Amino acid sequence: MQEDPQAKSKPPIRDHPRSDMEFGGIKPKAFQRDEKSSKCLVYILVIMVIQGSILLVFASYFLRARTPGFEIGSVEVRNLKYGNSSAPSFNFTLLTQVTVENTNFGDFRFDNSTGSVWCGSEVVGLMKIPKGRAQARASEMMKVSTQVSSVRLSDANNLASNMSYGLLELKSYVKLSGKVTIMNIMKRRRNPEMNCFMKLNLTGNTIQRLKCD
Ligand SMILES: *[C@@H]1O[C@H](CO)[C@@H](O)[C@H](O)[C@H]1NC(C)=O
Ligand SMILES: *[C@@H]1O[C@H](CO)[C@@H](O)[C@H](O)[C@H]1NC(C)=O
Ligand SMILES: *[C@@H]1O[C@H](CO)[C@@H](O)[C@H](O)[C@H]1NC(C)=O
Ligand SMILES: *[C@@H]1O[C@H](CO)[C@@H](O)[C@H](O)[C@H]1NC(C)=O
Ligand SMILES: *[C@@H]1O[C@H](CO)[C@@H](O)[C@H](O)[C@H]1NC(C)=O
Repeated sequence: MQEDPQAKSKPPIRDHPRSDMEFGGIKPKAFQRDEKSSKCLVYILVIMVIQGSILLVFASYFLRARTPGFEIGSVEVRNLKYGNSSAPSFNFTLLTQVTVENTNFGDFRFDNSTGSVWCGSEVVGLMKIPKGRAQARASEMMKVSTQVSSVRLSDANNLASNMSYGLLELKSYVKLSGKVTIMNIMKRRRNPEMNCFMKLNLTGNTIQRLKCD
């Protein structure tokens, strides 16, 4: 039991002097060569590391696919008709200028999509966004016309109180589905969302306090 580990540890000790003696004559030349080539190797490695980090910085800045901004730039109300007595109702056309702001170093192409305009918890209009393209580091503006009507509401009764103040609260939500392509090598799906709140002034025929997040 005690003899076995000793026997195993002895041969390595014998091996070391042997190998030193064998390479003893060649050692100085090989060492000089090694020093030169290892210095060269270090320089190459340093250059590679610097190049690598430059590439990394480049890639993380230029090749990163950011989600484009998406919001309503301006809004107008047309053909507003409303009833404000026994049968509260409204009907109007919402003319919006929608902006897709692409901060990427590549195009953003998006499919057509349908968003919605809400009054309380119910949909009162469909917002149709045509398919399009926002060029690299540019904004794409689209005019979108949405028909908004209280016909879609299941219960227009609590509308009466809201309309009596002369202000109608509306929300809109649209999600785009598209692709950011950077230098033909990077393709990433990006789905910008738009969430806007606005108040329709019934007597003034205008949208007040448009706010998007
Ligand atoms: C709403 O207005 C549009 C155009 O102004 C009209 O075609 C539509 O019939 C109206 N709908 C209602 C429910 O009044
Ligand atoms: C997009 O347009 C195509 C053809 O015009 C249509 O079939 C599809 O339903 C539209 N998609 C949306 C989300 O509106
Ligand atoms: C009516 O107004 C109240 C209070 O401002 C709001 O919570 C509610 O969502 C409004 N309803 C509609 C249908 O706009
Ligand atoms: C709606 O009718 C109420 C009274 O019935 C009135 O006080 C209010 O100003 C009206 N609102 C609008 C927007 O016409
Ligand atoms: C609606 O607009 C009219 C005219 O611009 C203004 O006089 C009125 O104060 C507005 N109503 C509300 C509730 O802000």
